[in-house]
Amino acid sequence: MSQENVLITGASSGIGLELAKLFAADGDRLILVARRADKLEALADELRRNYGTQVQVIVADLRRPEAPQEIFDVVQSGGQPVDVLVNNAGFGARGRFVELDPQRQADMIQVNVTAPTRLARLFLPGMLQRNRGGILNVASTAAFQPGPYMSVYYATKAYILSFSEALAEEVRRTNVRISCLAPGPTITEFGDVADMSATKAFRHWVMEAEPVARAGYNAFRRGKALVVPGKLNRVGTLAVRFMPLSLARKVTAWIQQT
Ligand SMILES: NC(=O)c1ccc[n+]([C@@H]2O[C@H](COP(=O)([O-])OP(=O)(O)OC[C@H]3O[C@@H](n4cnc5c(N)ncnc54)[C@H](OP(=O)(O)O)[C@@H]3O)[C@@H](O)[C@H]2O)c1
Repeated sequence: MSQENVLITGASSGIGLELAKLFAADGDRLILVARRADKLEALADELRRNYGTQVQVIVADLRRPEAPQEIFDVVQSGGQPVDVLVNNAGFGARGRFVELDPQRQADMIQVNVTAPTRLARLFLPGMLQRNRGGILNVASTAAFQPGPYMSVYYATKAYILSFSEALAEEVRRTNVRISCLAPGPTITEFGDVADMSATKAFRHWVMEAEPVARAGYNAFRRGKALVVPGKLNRVGTLAVRFMPLSLARKVTAWIQQT
């Protein structure tokens, strides 16, 4: 496979960091995006050392509405097109809807929904023009049912799953691929950021970040529209399809408790 330019948001930790290693091992050129410059630079050094790959770091805060356009402009000025966009950056927050900080909820919608949509809108036309590459969107098993006590987060991920599946169909007759990775609870910084680490879901169902990233990477390489890593997660997402929503939301509320 010819070398591709791969832009990964949220590459400073967790699933995004593991995805960066997988793409770098292929010899792809990487563009790493997140807020923490030190983490990105450390990863960039590691990838250059271990894989001899070219790496560019873009420090950006996706809570800012201007960030996607600024990222696009920086990449364009470098003269290299983005072949693969990995929309991975995201965060959650657990708690009753009316008690969580409204600014944090708005930021979550910006980072988890608006920024990936805007980045896709900016980069996808070039991919279609060149008839290569594609987008890997990171949703969650949260995408498959409503999530009491994490209502906004679950809704953002339902958006990503729906958006991703729809785009996959729109580009079906091209060589451009759109894939969606829907992980269940995974050991990263996410659990602590979202105050989820002590919940039943995180205490009983966790996977490591590497196999989760590998499942997403493999699905993307094979042109699969959706992958749910882990047998238990696949059974869970399948089960909710056969359950009335009234039951699914009760089960989710239960696993969201500590
Ligand atoms: N871990 C899980 O259980 C789980 C389950 C299902 C889905 N997911 C999804 O997987 C994706 C990756 O999360 P993770 O588990 O790897 O968590 P993580 O270790 O917390 O990584 C999140 C990444 O997103 C970046 N990010 C967060 N806010 C940002 C902002 N405002 N601007 C730019 N970058 C930002 C972080 O970088 P900086 O802090 O340096 O900005 C970090 O690189 C997320 O979309 C998450 O919703 C996670």
